[in-house]
Amino acid sequence: QTVTATIDRTFTIGETDRRLFGAFVEHLGRCVYGGLYEPGHPSADAKGFRTDVLDLVRELAPTTMRYPGGNFVSGYNWEDGVGPVEKRPRRLDLAWMSTETNAFGTNEFIDWCRAAGIEPMLAVNLGTRDGEAARRLVEYCNFPGGTELSDLRRDHGWPEPHDVKFWCLGNEMDGPWQMETKTAVEYGRIATEAAKLMRWVDPSIELAACGSSARTMPTFGEWEDTVLEHTFEHVEFISLHTYLNDYAGDTAAFLASPDLMDSFIDEVVAIADAVAARRRSSKRIMLSFDEWNVWYRTRRKSEGRTKLGWPVAPNILEEVYTMKDALAFGGACISLLNHADRVRSACLAQLVNAIAPIMTETGGPAWRQTIFHPFAHFSNFGRGQVLRANLVSPTYAATYYDPRGTADLTFPLPAVPYAKLAAVHDEAGRAVTLFVLNRHLDQPMPIQIDARGFGDLELVEALEMRHDDLSATNTKEAPDRVRPAPLAGVRVDGGRVVATLAPASWNVIRLV
Ligand code: AHR
Repeated sequence: QTVTATIDRTFTIGETDRRLFGAFVEHLGRCVYGGLYEPGHPSADAKGFRTDVLDLVRELAPTTMRYPGGNFVSGYNWEDGVGPVEKRPRRLDLAWMSTETNAFGTNEFIDWCRAAGIEPMLAVNLGTRDGEAARRLVEYCNFPGGTELSDLRRDHGWPEPHDVKFWCLGNEMDGPWQMETKTAVEYGRIATEAAKLMRWVDPSIELAACGSSARTMPTFGEWEDTVLEHTFEHVEFISLHTYLNDYAGDTAAFLASPDLMDSFIDEVVAIADAVAARRRSSKRIMLSFDEWNVWYRTRRKSEGRTKLGWPVAPNILEEVYTMKDALAFGGACISLLNHADRVRSACLAQLVNAIAPIMTETGGPAWRQTIFHPFAHFSNFGRGQVLRANLVSPTYAATYYDPRGTADLTFPLPAVPYAKLAAVHDEAGRAVTLFVLNRHLDQPMPIQIDARGFGDLELVEALEMRHDDLSATNTKEAPDRVRPAPLAGVRVDGGRVVATLAPASWNVIRLV
């Protein structure tokens, strides 16, 4: 059965916000040390930034970068990471049972962002610290000068303000694994007070409150409602986190799982708008999906998450991604695009080595993991008006297993469309890009897209990503085993696009 979709330039979901294409750098394992920062590496520049990693980051094209955590931020003293490096303290990091040298801190991160052409997004510690520490960090970063903290930044060698616009009010404060976990009321209160102080220092900043750390958290729903009851007037965003998994070894269910991100987004929008309705407010809280990825192999076993002996930059969470993972990941990209009206910020978690699209060997090369490619397509070609495609696809039933939170949960998905699709119209570049996932594991998918009102379209490029072995990976020895290749046989006839998509494939069709 042919899959059909109808797109029209006037039927739009919304314009993608630049910040939808962000990523995340945490002090975690070898993300920073041995990842993006490695003085002494043959490719390192004068600041110790690995230029081989920077080149890959430019190709990946993330727009914003969240920092410094993650779980790490809930025990972080930002003061430890500024000033003369030789005076910075070594500390135990209780998030990842590592020793933090603090050789890399906020100022180095800002320099790295500038080198990469990326907008920084900082998280403040609302675990072991409070609004006072947060407002001091805003003053240190953003105040021009003439106060103790802004002059301290200048003394440290950064005369110009960092001008950080986007701030996260803590991280996953609903999670028992977090340092100083809070109830929704406790968090709602501290987030409100922190937000007030931070914004009084710099009224131009935007703030994101912590939502649930997963849809499967037992407090999901109630948490958002209570937190937004407290913070509604003080924040622009509420966050969401999702890590897709295939613990069950059920590929069909795994590939269906991005559809639960769609549900999660719809549910958080409903709760945020209910809070607005109770106030008779026209304000709309936007969503910051500030952690999303595939993650399971290095997740549940404690030896995969921490190493004994408080090592510096241990090789933890170094998930090696497969072809199958890239397919589920592509599905997540489509979910984000199709909610561009409310998801105005998102961060792929993370960037280098720890659950990351880029892998490195300390002292050695850097290479692209399988998930690198769908993200690069998403970011490079996903800018513009997302179109409301009228997709008609045969469906299948699956049951997804997701143990995050306190309960092991299964989710029946009775009607998963084999095709998952997003269409983006870049009006400036007059381009239309179709992102299509074929979730059928053994059948090719004939697809026909009726692109109304676009006149005569021409094919610019058609790419597919597939592999006979769904467990194929990219490694140091074979860094390009899984990569996009031309998709043959795409026909464009006036406003009609016809193609046949390989079983279990990620496809990108670019038209002008
Ligand atoms: O991204 C890895 C971890 O996952 C983050 O530190 C935390 O926020 C989440 O639980």
